[in-house]
Amino acid sequence: MLLGVNIDHVATLRNARGENDPCVFDAAQICINSGANGITMHLREDRRHIKDDDVFYVKNNLDCKLNLEMAVTEEMQKIALKLLPHSCCIVPEKRQEITTEGGLDVCSQKDKIKNFIAPLIDNGINVSLFIDPEENQIEAANYTGAKFIELHTGSYSRAFSTANEETEFQKLYKSAKLAQSLGITVNAGHGLNYKNVFRMHEITNLYELNIGHSIISRAIFIGLDNAVKEMLQLV
Ligand code: PXP
Repeated sequence: MLLGVNIDHVATLRNARGENDPCVFDAAQICINSGANGITMHLREDRRHIKDDDVFYVKNNLDCKLNLEMAVTEEMQKIALKLLPHSCCIVPEKRQEITTEGGLDVCSQKDKIKNFIAPLIDNGINVSLFIDPEENQIEAANYTGAKFIELHTGSYSRAFSTANEETEFQKLYKSAKLAQSLGITVNAGHGLNYKNVFRMHEITNLYELNIGHSIISRAIFIGLDNAVKEMLQLV
């Protein structure tokens, strides 16, 4: 399994002072030097953490797989086509949310998403759709032509160590198997941490995990390089 490190919250901290400390590019470089397989950045419409310059600077100056998380907007499509990251993960976005709260509702906008991702795929970008572990969302994702999905692990993560853990885990497991049977490569992420990540190994052939908050939080205490290495051992 591969590990993509989401460094959005390095930018959150940087923006708290409005200058360049901690430097987002340095963070990306440390993650890659520590063995991470890729860097994920979410360019939000409100630019609350990652800014346009961050994604272009990392793309142009660091040899790594860059995964751009973005909403279904014309502005983001233009940026992605200019940036040409290794991959794009399409996420829903609400201005008021603290973080991405649910998966993308592909079912209700199948054709819109199909048309939205077509030029990205045509330009060589690996497009994944961030969806809840539900059968109808997976079938809709398959309809759009996306070759990757990222399963939203938020409900599993919240249910970890509670009576609901197994129910939430089984949703992920069954969804991954369904998607894989359709030829879709399955990634997962959101809320994964050093305690709950181990069960992802039960889902055979998961391709990549995208993890941010827990790694950046741990980095405050043990350093980013150690936090990434610790997670890599678990992944
Ligand atoms: N994957 C997606 C699509 C996300 O939106 C996020 C959060 O930005 C993550 C993974 C990482 O989640 P976390 O920060 O909880 O590890």
